Amino acid sequence: MYNKRNISIIGGAGHVGFGLGLILSSKGFKVSLIDKHRANIKKINSGQVPFLEENSEKLLNKMIRSKRIYATNELNEVLKSKYIIVCIGTPINNKLNPSLTHFINFFYELKKFLNKNQIIIIRSSIYPGICNKIYKIISSKCKNLSYCPERIVQGKLILELPKLPQLVSGKSKTAILESSKLFKKVCKKIIHTKVIEAELVKLFSNAYRYINFSISNQFYMICQNQGINFFKIRDIMRDGYMRNANIPLSGFTAGPCLLKDTMQLSSFYNHKFLLGHSAMRINEGIPRFIINKLNKKYNLKNKTVGVLGLAFKSETDDIRDSLAIKLLKLLKSKKIKTLQSDEFYKNKDNIGKKDLIRKSDIIILSTPHKAYKKLKIGKNKILVDAWGLIDKG
Ligand SMILES: NC(=O)c1ccc[n+]([C@@H]2O[C@H](COP(=O)([O-])OP(=O)(O)OC[C@H]3O[C@@H](n4cnc5c(N)ncnc54)[C@H](O)[C@@H]3O)[C@@H](O)[C@H]2O)c1
Repeated sequence: MYNKRNISIIGGAGHVGFGLGLILSSKGFKVSLIDKHRANIKKINSGQVPFLEENSEKLLNKMIRSKRIYATNELNEVLKSKYIIVCIGTPINNKLNPSLTHFINFFYELKKFLNKNQIIIIRSSIYPGICNKIYKIISSKCKNLSYCPERIVQGKLILELPKLPQLVSGKSKTAILESSKLFKKVCKKIIHTKVIEAELVKLFSNAYRYINFSISNQFYMICQNQGINFFKIRDIMRDGYMRNANIPLSGFTAGPCLLKDTMQLSSFYNHKFLLGHSAMRINEGIPRFIINKLNKKYNLKNKTVGVLGLAFKSETDDIRDSLAIKLLKLLKSKKIKTLQSDEFYKNKDNIGKKDLIRKSDIIILSTPHKAYKKLKIGKNKILVDAWGLIDKG
């Protein structure tokens, strides 16, 4: 049953697992995408991509036709595979600590199907030290455990993965050698690290981005309080002055990774990661900041507020941990009349963008989808644009 060309991906119907599976199947491997999400399994097997992933639909159908990829909910499919890649979610709980039970219990389940020749690769973003815990769980059956974190930007895995260096770390020489061989087929460069180094590189990278965005969000708030245009200030800061070239735009910094990984890191540091916590307060505070500012100026009970964009970032249909959704909920909890729209995320309450603009008194641009860039918003409307996409001042 066991085949050296077979790969099983756990969490294979998710954002990370699906794209990776597609790429590996295109390199000649036979890939089983193992997942609990029955609806997404059905979609994948019928050639539909369950979420937006650039350049993936044609490839999926080609791989299905050549019988190199299929999705299933049967964990025992791993018996057929030399490589088992784990891409399941690693959430945090409401106390901002990593919620590890599901992740760890999964390896007790997996252990039943392991043999000593298999290579287990963890790809999820994990709490530092978890690889060692997992190793203790599975090592009586298989010692070949690697940690090779994913570092792509969501929705662009197919385009980005071949261009990115891949971190490879592991608990045995075989694990390191075999994981390197596998990723060499799809990635530009392999960087070998210790396991703890790879765990920290992943979390530091996401925390760094999260903190970086919070700086611009804080500057945006300072400007708003003074009635000054942040985007003009940012342009001047960067004009011919290279030291400021990388200052990001402000906006609704959110999504399933940045905050979660910043808090995993904070938990690892006994919640004394002050920069991380400040970044969270600033970024997560944006919706409330906008509502409070509007509330001071207008009677919101008499206004219709249009929330333009629901996804957590542009050109995606993913609303996981979206601040646009948080904004919408806050507005509704205050009994303010709302309208909502999105270009990619489908919901029965959505209306078209032009309709939303026409029917709203106040429009809050909450996701910078490209389609909103050229929208005409009349002078009689109030526009709040924390991204500086439409309102350049
Ligand atoms: N989304 C990204 O762009 C991205 C980038 C880098 C790293 N990561 C990390 O990768 C991991 C996965 O993220 P994602 O965005 O793909 O999440 P996701 O929710 O899209 O996918 C996870 C999948 O795992 C499945 N699953 C959960 N438990 C399972 C189990 N016991 N058995 C089988 N399937 C199971 C879920 O049904 C889901 O389809 C996380 O640790 C995340 O932080 C994500």
